Amino acid sequence: MGHFYFVRHGQTVWNVENKICGAMDSPLTELGREQARKTGQMLRKKIDHGEIHIDEIMTSPLSRAFDTAVEISHVIGAPVRIEPRLVEQNFGRWEGTARDGSEFARAKENFADSYGGGESMMKTAQRIYNLIDDIEKEPEKTYLLVAHNGISRMIESYFRDMRNEEFAAFGIKNAEVREYKFEDSFPDYHTDYDLLCRQLKSLMQGVDSDTTILSNASALIYQTLQGINWAGVYISQGNELLLGPFQGKPACVRIPFGKGVCGTAAAEGETVLVENVHEFAGHIACDSDSRSEIVLPICKKGSLYGVLDIDSPFFRRFSTSDRDGLEQFAEILGEGLAEK
Ligand code: SME
Repeated sequence: MGHFYFVRHGQTVWNVENKICGAMDSPLTELGREQARKTGQMLRKKIDHGEIHIDEIMTSPLSRAFDTAVEISHVIGAPVRIEPRLVEQNFGRWEGTARDGSEFARAKENFADSYGGGESMMKTAQRIYNLIDDIEKEPEKTYLLVAHNGISRMIESYFRDMRNEEFAAFGIKNAEVREYKFEDSFPDYHTDYDLLCRQLKSLMQGVDSDTTILSNASALIYQTLQGINWAGVYISQGNELLLGPFQGKPACVRIPFGKGVCGTAAAEGETVLVENVHEFAGHIACDSDSRSEIVLPICKKGSLYGVLDIDSPFFRRFSTSDRDGLEQFAEILGEGLAEK
């Protein structure tokens, strides 16, 4: 599974003065630069010993983080990219006030308050969680993120449960490095397939159009399964599959039998579960976000009708229990199509 590193910027002028920097741009002190260089050297040693690898540095645009990132980059040789979502939380009326004030400590437990013109904890979490979700989709790349204490708090909360006071008080030292691994938080996508199958049966009752049945079946899967980006059917026509009702981005219209994941499932008459589409020779990429895929044949009165195709932007999204549940779903779908 993927992972990334996080570094807080080096010491700033306002850190020394014990002031909340927030969205303001307090520069690094000479000690702050030195801390950044030392962190770079520590990382460099680990890289040279083959213990870690860093492809790219993503930094907050604020100069204390950017300059820290550049110092580290000079030592480890990885390129620096500005990521606007890493900017520090704007603490509104608290900016420039004492960092260790008890009122500020309590204020940080108010999650939906934007502190008079600042940014709420919830809004900050939204952009940081979105960024982490995006990083998770690139497990082949290892990033070093350089940002702020407010951002370190958000990242920590993505990976573990925290009480409100613990969350509000959380922080890391200047130029400290942390590693976050996605397996620690990999979601357990539990789907109630018995319920899904009952819902499918209800949706098919009294309906005598294939298009209607398949449209609702696709929508039901797309709405119910978590962590997917495409769900739909391809219908068998001659020696190829033709795109049928689906949910997601526009997809390729025709797939010859034996080609891609869909064509393979159709030709073999068996479910194909692909944990990593990049490793499946001949995979047809309809949506560049797709990382794993499952395709199940749909049979109507004993012969192949088409396939049910589901894509996910996450590697290894589909487990064997997903396969079992979806095979049951495809079977009921085939029966519904035959009955009408
Ligand atoms: N990936 C499929 C093509 C269809 S899209 O995923 C919707 C395949 O390789 O057959």
